[in-house]
Amino acid sequence: MPRTLILHAPAKVNLILEVQGRRPDGYHALKTVMHALELADTLRFSENSGGLRLVCSHPQVPTDERNLVYQAAIRLARRAGITPRVTIRLTKRIPVAAGLGGGSSDAATALLGLARWWRLGPRAPLARLARELGSDVPFFLNGGCALGTGRGERLTPWPSAPGLWLVLVNPGFPVSTAEVYRNFRLQLTRKKACISMMRSALKQKNADKISKKLFNHLEWVTLAAHPQVARIKQDLLAGGALGALMSGSGPTVFGLAPDRRTAWQIKGQLQTKYPVCLVTRLAEKTIRKEA
Ligand code: C5P
Repeated sequence: MPRTLILHAPAKVNLILEVQGRRPDGYHALKTVMHALELADTLRFSENSGGLRLVCSHPQVPTDERNLVYQAAIRLARRAGITPRVTIRLTKRIPVAAGLGGGSSDAATALLGLARWWRLGPRAPLARLARELGSDVPFFLNGGCALGTGRGERLTPWPSAPGLWLVLVNPGFPVSTAEVYRNFRLQLTRKKACISMMRSALKQKNADKISKKLFNHLEWVTLAAHPQVARIKQDLLAGGALGALMSGSGPTVFGLAPDRRTAWQIKGQLQTKYPVCLVTRLAEKTIRKEA
C-alpha cells in the first residue's frame, strides 16, 4: 500500500478583531479572538518519484510559489535539509480570500502534515515558520479558540465553545486583506471590544452572550466599500441569527444561530440570494482525520 496522509484544515471566524494602531513595520497591532470551525479544507499527502507537486482544482487557487502551502513545504524542506518527493492534493471547501483563514490554515496544516511525513519530530521549527508565512498561520497549528495579540500571531489559548451553530454567507467576491488594512482609520471609530466579557461568554458556551459581544473594527472599511455586506448582516439577523459579524477583513459574514434548526432555516432563506451560504459549527480543536 502506498503511504498517504489526509489532514483537515479548518476555517476560523474572528469573534473579536480590535485594531489598536499601526506599527512601525507597517502591520497593525491587534487584539483578536479567533475560533476554529468544523468547515475545513482537506490536504492529502502522497509519495511521488521526485519534487514537490501541489494539486488543486479550484480556479482561484494557484499551485505554484504563490500558494502558501507550496511556500510552507519549500521552507520546511530547506530547514530540515530534505529533498521533497511529495504530492499534496488540496481540496478547497473554505471560500477563498473570504476572511475565513483558508489559505493560512492550509499552510499550517501543510507544516504539520509534512513534519509528520518526514518524521521531523517535536524539534521542527513549525511555530517560527508559521509566523513567517502569515499573521494567522500560527493560530491554525492548534485551532480551538485563542486570543491573538501582536499582529495576531501571539496566542493565548482561550476556552472554546464547540457545537454552537453558525451560518456563513459570502457575497461571491474576494477581498484583499492588505487593502482593507490600508483603508482603516482608527480616528473614525472610538469603540472598543469587551474582551473579558467575551471570554466569560465563551466559557459559558452561551451563544446569546457571545452574540452581544461580537466586534470587528475592519467591518467599517469593508462595509463602506461593499454595501452588500451590510445587507447580509441585516438578512442574517432578520432570519433569526442572535448576532452577525463580518469575519476578519471579510467579506464573509457569519450569523450565530440559537440552534441547528434555525441555522438551516436561515440558510434556506438566504441561499437563493447569495452565492455561498454554509451551515457549520464552532469546533473543539483541529479535527485531523488520518488515513
Ligand atoms: O500576515 P499576512 O501576510 O496574512 O497579512 C496580509 C496583509 O494584511 C499584510 O501585508 C498587511 O498589509 C495586513 N495586515 C496588517 N496587520 C495585521 C495583519 C495583516 O496590516 N495585524
